[in-house]
Formats: sequence, structure tokens, C-alpha cells
Amino acid sequence: MLNTHDEIIGAARSYVRAQMPEDYTGHDYLHVERVWKLAKQIAAECGANATIVELAALFHDISDYKLNGGSETDGPEKARCWIEGATRSPSIADKVAQIILDIPFRGALSPAGPPLSIEAQCVQDADRLDAIGAIGIARAFAFGGAMKQKMLSADIKPALHSSFAQYKRKNGTTVNHFYEKLLLLTARMNTPAGRRIAETRHALMLEFLRQLSDETGMEFGIPD
Ligand code: ADP
Ligand code: NI
Repeated sequence: MLNTHDEIIGAARSYVRAQMPEDYTGHDYLHVERVWKLAKQIAAECGANATIVELAALFHDISDYKLNGGSETDGPEKARCWIEGATRSPSIADKVAQIILDIPFRGALSPAGPPLSIEAQCVQDADRLDAIGAIGIARAFAFGGAMKQKMLSADIKPALHSSFAQYKRKNGTTVNHFYEKLLLLTARMNTPAGRRIAETRHALMLEFLRQLSDETGMEFGIPD
């Protein structure tokens, strides 16, 4: 059994790094490290429980069933087992597993559900921050390429969607993904810290789309 916070987090980082498969979609271990650091910063500002937030951030993409098959409970269960062994605290293990299960399905872009705990809100904001800004732009094009999705299409004029119903109506280019999801994230951050960090990243994405539109001569519906 590991005792101190630092020992538990150190061991969790090694375990998760060894578990993450080779990845070309932007879900590699470096994504996990970035989300961990952001989540830690946001939790400190929000007064959330650091151990729960940091463990949930480190385990949030373990056994990602959307990419690797399996079931949506595989990742949370793997996290629960490891954390219970390391901390001897079924309560911490259960809380972290619940956060990992809830995050993809609750909150801003998903249909309404019970509110997320403050710890879950910190991790969700951190995960979303890694989907916007310079790293977000890089990940979107990496993901698009790995999925053999077009970057752009002459037939599709991207425009900002404002509702979940519109967001679901995808039309399949990476540039459109900015309009379907990435440009909607800043206004939907859970925490003040998340919102503040998101603002610079959001401005960069707008600037990127403006210049991309200029360079390609394609018109995008760029919001003000
Ligand atoms: P999660 O972090 O919950 O796994 P996603 O799988 O939706 O969320 O997104 C992970 C990363 O992949 C993000 O950077 C996101 O922008 C990118 N991504 C997801 N879907 C697309 C898409 N259709 N086109 C381009 N990038 C995408
Ligand atoms: Ni993630």
C-alpha cells in the first residue's frame, strides 16, 4: 500500500503510462499528462479534493472503448481496481471510477443529467482545455487524419451551431469539428479557472480559422 499523496500519484503515472497503447489520434500518454497538470491547477483554485481529481485525470482515458473497443465500464473498472489496491480506500476508488464513467456523457454538450461533482467538473474542464487552443488544433487534425476524415470540403460551409441537436448533425470535415464542438467548449466550462484558461485558447482558434479562410479562399462563418 502506498501512503502519501505523492507516492500514490507517482505510482499511478507509471501505471497509466505503461497501460496506454501507441496512439495517433491525440489520445496518447502526453495528453494524459497535460490533462493531469491542468486538472491539478484547476482543483487548487476550486478547492476540490486533489487526490480524487488527479487520479481521475490520470485514469480518464484508460481503456478508451470509443477507440479500442470493449465496454464503457472497462476503463472505470480498471481504475477502481488499481486505486483500491494502492490506497486501500474503496471510497476514493469508487468516486474516481464514477467520474471517469460520467465525464463523457454529462455536462455541456450532452443532454441534461444530474450535475457533476466539483472534482468531475475540474477533470472535464481540463480534458476540454486539451481539445482547444494550439494543442487542440493539432489534435483535431491528427484525429481527423487517423480517421481518414477530410480536412476541408468545397461543398461544406462550416458555421457555428448553438444547440445539441445541431451538434449531433455532423458533416464530417475536421474544420467543421471546430464548429460542431471545439468553438462551443469555452462558454461551457464548468469552473472559473477553466473558463479563464480557455479564453486565450479560444481566441487562437478564431484567429486560426480566419487565416485558414484567407489562405484557402474558402468562406467560413467565423463568429465575432
Ligand atoms: P474525449 O476527450 O472525451 O475522448 P473526443 O474523443 O471527442 O473526446 O475527442 C478527443 C480529441 O479528438 C479532441 O482533441 C477532439 O477535438 C478530437 N476529435 C474528436 N472527434 C473529432 C472529429 N470528428 N474531427 C477531428 N477531431 C476530432
Ligand atoms: Ni481525454
